[in-house]
Amino acid sequence: MTSSDAFGVRIAGAGSAVPDRRLTNADLEKLMDTSDEWIVQRTGIRERRVVDQEVEGTFTLSRDALRRALDDAGMDARDLDQIIVATVTAEMTCPSTACRISAELGATPAGAFDLVAACSGFVYGINVADALMRAGHCRTIAVIGCDAMSTVIDYSERSVSILFGDAAGAVVLAREENDPTVGCIYSSTQADGSMWESLYMPRRSQEVPLQDSDNPIKLGCLRMNGREIYRFAITKFREVIQEALDATGLGVDDISQFVCHQSNLRILENAKQKLGLPDDKVHINIDRYGNSSAGSVGLCFDQLWQAGKIRRGDHVLFVAFGGGLTWAVSVWKI
Ligand code: UT7
Repeated sequence: MTSSDAFGVRIAGAGSAVPDRRLTNADLEKLMDTSDEWIVQRTGIRERRVVDQEVEGTFTLSRDALRRALDDAGMDARDLDQIIVATVTAEMTCPSTACRISAELGATPAGAFDLVAACSGFVYGINVADALMRAGHCRTIAVIGCDAMSTVIDYSERSVSILFGDAAGAVVLAREENDPTVGCIYSSTQADGSMWESLYMPRRSQEVPLQDSDNPIKLGCLRMNGREIYRFAITKFREVIQEALDATGLGVDDISQFVCHQSNLRILENAKQKLGLPDDKVHINIDRYGNSSAGSVGLCFDQLWQAGKIRRGDHVLFVAFGGGLTWAVSVWKI
């Protein structure tokens, strides 16, 4: 979909939130049969943040990230027309995390809903938000990507647990009357549901696929076939970036930042090498935060934004893939 309308969509502010508690590779060595060397070599991760489940979770991280994004935008929750929270770790499916945040921050009667697209959630969210705004339904939308993955991890499962961490990233989008060229200039929001069994969180044993029935999984915990996802991602990541460049006519030189889902350092390095993306255009924080699912793209964007590495007029490409399987890309003029 290529957007063109009478007004633009401005990223008015950004914010993020991560728990204080660190879970290092050395901590994991004490919990399971693994090593810092294996984890760093296979994933690039050295530590990740995890919530204190007594007092923190998806709700608190999302709320804090949005508070910071509103402060950054110089706006109040009452200014919002819509709140979208992308997450697969909501404490409750009803009400949505977005409704609870709206009540806490005072955004009523803004619309509020959660969106489930796993690691692609934040990019799905900004694509949906841009479409709602371009269609004239909303003037101001908050998009938050957040996952507290540590709440759905079985720490006896070493191939899954080493990968994930907890984080939230948020943006506040506002209608830009003066410059119709700012906002999303290309988006793609796609999925292949036939591959769902590669990454899922079953609530009931009936949903566990036959292939995994001999391999007991704790209900409510994440099950991932890492090798399958890796194979899928290594090609898809490159393909969707290339498609976005082809569709917009932009080259690597024209994009200021490729804001990528922090899935695994090897997947990111492969895309960088194959597409010729320079180091300073691909922000990497997976070493410190792990893979925070829907939190990762928003967290990267906020870190770049607060550091002044993204400026008005820049072109930025957002890209992610994840459970579903889902994938999404979005190119913005800031
Ligand atoms: O965010 C979107 C969703 N997820 C992803 O993007 C994940 C994509 N996949 C991956 O990042 C990688 O597949 C993993 C990091 C999850 C796993 O790395 P891998 O290189 O694919 O390892 P593997 O599962 O193929 O396992 C290789 C070996 C196995 O031993 P054998 O059978 O070769 O003897 C595993 O048992 O490594 C062993 N292994 C470990 N050893 C030490 C698996 N996990 C660990 C571990 N520590 N934590």
